[in-house]
Amino acid sequence: MSVVFDCREIRYRYLERFPALDGVSLQVNAGETVALLGANGCGKSTLLKLLDGLLFAESGTFTAFGEEVTEDKLEDEQFNHGFRARVGFVFQNSDAQVFSPSVREEIAFGCLQLGLDRATAAQRVDDVLAMLDITDLADRAPFQLSGGQKKRVAIASVLVMNPEVLLFDEPTAALDPRTQFWLIELLEQLRSAGKTIVLATHDLDSLPSLADRCVVFGEHHQVLADAPTPTILDDRDLLLAANLIHARSTSRA
Ligand SMILES: Nc1ncnc2c1ncn2[C@@H]1O[C@H](COP(=O)(O)OP(=O)(O)OP(=O)(O)O)[C@@H](O)[C@H]1O
Ligand SMILES: [Mg+2]
Repeated sequence: MSVVFDCREIRYRYLERFPALDGVSLQVNAGETVALLGANGCGKSTLLKLLDGLLFAESGTFTAFGEEVTEDKLEDEQFNHGFRARVGFVFQNSDAQVFSPSVREEIAFGCLQLGLDRATAAQRVDDVLAMLDITDLADRAPFQLSGGQKKRVAIASVLVMNPEVLLFDEPTAALDPRTQFWLIELLEQLRSAGKTIVLATHDLDSLPSLADRCVVFGEHHQVLADAPTPTILDDRDLLLAANLIHARSTSRA
């Protein structure tokens, strides 16, 4: 099985002061769906940003598709294009992601960045608008959308580039039950299409349909456990230690 991401002993602090990842090692194989679990502030979003080449480890190594990813390498246009075409990231906060004047332009943006001609980009945009059921929103401005609609647009702007790896930061948060269900089905489709998916979530109930494997982070920004989803969900002591359930919770025995 080919290794997509290989993180070794990654350390990262914001402003060289606030620890976010402290000696984190993990591998993600092609076609796997991996959930990052842990209490608020444990480092899930930071790891996703590292996997997307948006920030860089202070120490340790990050290898993607067999090649080490560094700030210097990503400054090289060809390497940058290759990496960006293969990895897509749906942010925790869609407002930080959606900024073009209209939904259609927002979704076309990435395609044009990748160098697709206008006609091919327009066709792809139409396909993705239909797939995400947002064709009727195509000419709206992002500020005229609800939070859940913005999330769909953010997902569309990533899917339109058809990356082989998808990173999702809390994809089901702040969505209504029907939209959550829709998103879980979309993730299942992407999974059966062979995409590699890494997602951060607090949604334990949806985990069995979301991920094959879970990586659990502790409050000290280290990996507490890395195991198949059923093993993690059966380990009540671990879930308690990682603050994933409350001591009085009865939902998982
Ligand atoms: N821009 C920032 N400046 C300083 N510290 C930050 C910044 N972003 C995150 N941190 C700190 O880094 C640590 C990890 O944050 P991160 O956002 O990765 O956590 P998380 O696991 O995604 O949490 P959540 O479940 O709340 O989304 C936290 O202690 C946080 O306070
Ligand atoms: Mg986060």
